[in-house]
Amino acid sequence: MSCAGLMTAGLVLHGCGTAMPIIKATAKDEKIGIPLSSFAEGKTMLVVRTAQLENDILIIKKEDNYHAIYLQCTHEGVGLTPTSQKIVCTAHGSVFDFDGNVLKEPALKPLKKFKTSVIDNNLIISLT
Ligand code: FES
Repeated sequence: MSCAGLMTAGLVLHGCGTAMPIIKATAKDEKIGIPLSSFAEGKTMLVVRTAQLENDILIIKKEDNYHAIYLQCTHEGVGLTPTSQKIVCTAHGSVFDFDGNVLKEPALKPLKKFKTSVIDNNLIISLT
């Protein structure tokens, strides 16, 4: 399968609220495609923003694996802010690790994760 049709915008922005690179993308057939070259120069984390989701997705590269964590707090659904050490909710102070586990309440449930795969030098994030 070619993923060329999935690619939309590869624009890298430095967004507000986070110092991480942000890639804007459009989902097609419930999937988002990001070029693996986005992780060039030793990058291990970036944020994907799409109009199809209320909040962003944090992509974490661990060796050759990619983890996609939905940046929506499991307490009351507020958007989360990733830092270099953890993921924080500014609403009521919940803190999560990079596996999505709760480090600090009031949130009780881990963060949602999306399945990822690599096809033709693209990282594919499945939103279903
Ligand atoms: S919405 Fe995140 S801690 Fe309440």
